[in-house]
This record gives sequence, structure tokens and C-alpha cells, in this order.
Amino acid sequence: MRVVHTNTELAHAVAQARAAGQRIGFVPTMGALHAGHLSLVEIAAVRAEFVVVSIFVNPLQFAANEDFGKYPRTLDADTEALEHTAADLLYAPNAEEVYRQADGRIDTSITHHAGRAGEDFEGAVRPGHFDGMLTVVARLFDLVKPDVAVFGAKDAQQLFLVRELAAQSYPGLEIVAAPIVREESGLALSSRNRYLSAQERIQADSLSKALRAAAEHRANGPAKALAAARDALAQEPTIRLDYLALVDKFTFEPVPEDFVGVALLLIAARVGSTRLLDNQEIDFR
Ligand code: PAJ
Repeated sequence: MRVVHTNTELAHAVAQARAAGQRIGFVPTMGALHAGHLSLVEIAAVRAEFVVVSIFVNPLQFAANEDFGKYPRTLDADTEALEHTAADLLYAPNAEEVYRQADGRIDTSITHHAGRAGEDFEGAVRPGHFDGMLTVVARLFDLVKPDVAVFGAKDAQQLFLVRELAAQSYPGLEIVAAPIVREESGLALSSRNRYLSAQERIQADSLSKALRAAAEHRANGPAKALAAARDALAQEPTIRLDYLALVDKFTFEPVPEDFVGVALLLIAARVGSTRLLDNQEIDFR
């Protein structure tokens, strides 16, 4: 695997692969890689002959009070982990490189707005987050010019918004969703899990327990499924819930009580000072 830090090297490597008739697969990340990220690389490799992974902690998607400064940066370990995957190129730029325009100017203004589907849930708790996320994802798409890009189902609202972005602005680009990779306990892997103490890890399991409880009650309809999730969460009063919601997978709108279709149960909560996200598809057909 080659490691490059500049747009020029990236463009050159991608052009070479394309000239050799290879399809370009792309996995954008912020590093601190775990098995969830690595699974995305393998999925990309099934669909493309040349796989680019990016590692960039994007300042635009963190609010002033968030963990941008302390977000884990582990480039050496990440490079080592990627060496054992199907990744062909690691693009690890700095912010100037990402946001440098054709005329040499550094422009960190927001170029993409999430709109209606970005207002609720993560968008409500983290104002501006999705605008910053879409701005960097579009920028990375422009730099890498992939044929296929892989995103984790773990960040369901992000995935939904990236699909909208691609449909609007990148018609030839295929967006692939990768299933959530979990620990044996059920805890969804996350770069932020490393902030959790041993006790908080146990408390954090209540998120996936709540999702499973809801899925077990799906035959009784959305309201009962939601209630089952709430009951499971009540067993762990130390966690602070940001939201628990059932949305239509295809519109991201909250579902009515008589909903028939595929829903996503979304959950976000704070365990100690760590914010965790999880979700599960629930089929109400
Ligand atoms: P990051 O949090 O590093 O995640 C990179 C990708 O890995 C995302 O598509 C995310 O959904 C996926 N992922 C994380 N944990 C996962 C898990 N347990 N199972 C499966 N996939 C998982 O998401 C971002 O970075 C950024 O917002 C980014 C898209 C890179 C833009 O800056």
C-alpha cells in the first residue's frame, strides 16, 4: 500500500490506476481505525480494483465544544492496520491540502448544506455537523473521483445524506452501505469507544440491548417496539439519552404508529462524557 499526503500524488496514483482500466473504490475515514473501518475496505475491494482510504480529521464537522482537539490521531497504527487489508492507497492529507483550491487559496467555507433530512437527530444535537461532513465528503469525492464509495450503516443519517449528495451531484458514483460491526457484547465499534472506562463499557451495552429489545417486539408494531427499547434503557439510568426514534429508512421521517415498511431505530446517548450512536433496521412489514 502506498501512503501519500498531497493532492498531486493522489491524483497521479488514481490516474495511473484508471489508465490501467481499474475501478476506483473509496473509503473516507477520520482514522483511529478499528475492525468496522477495515470491513469497509474489504467491501470496497469486492467492487473496485483500486481502493483508496482517506484519513482526515475534518475540522469543519466539529463544533467548538466538541472533541476535535482530542480526537484520536494514530496514523502509524492505522497505516500498519491497512497494510493487512486490500487498500492500495492511503491518502492522509492535512487541512491545507484538503481545502486548497485550484488558485492556491485555502477555502474552508461550507459548500454543501444538509437541508431538511439533516435537521433532526444528529443535526439537532450537533448544529452544523452535517454541513461540515458533506462539505468534506464532496471535496474528497472531487479529489479521489471514485466509482464506488463505502459508508458504514453505523452513521445512518450520514449515510442517508451522502446518498442524497451523490444522487444530486455525483450521478456516476455508487454509494455502498456496510453493515455495523459490533463487539461480542453488541457494542458497535467506534473510534470513540477508547474514551470509555471499563464500567462505562458495560453501561454502553444498554444501547445495543435496547435495539435488540425493540427488534424482538417488532411483531407488535412500532409503538410497542419503541416502548421495549425505552424499558431496556431504563435499566441503565446512568446513561443520558439524546434521542431514541423510529424513522422510515427511505425518508428519514419519524414513522406513524400504523407504519408498515422498513424502519431504522436510531439511538444516541452519552455514557460519561462520551457520545455514542447506534441503530438497527426493523422490518414492520
Ligand atoms: P469515521 O467516524 O472515521 O467513520 C468512517 C466510516 O466508518 C463511516 O462510513 C462510518 O459509518 C464507518 N464506521 C464506523 N464505525 C463502524 C462500525 N462499527 N461498523 C461499520 N462501519 C463503521 O464518518 C466519518 O468518519 C466522517 O464523518 C467522514 C465520512 C470520514 C467525513 O469526515
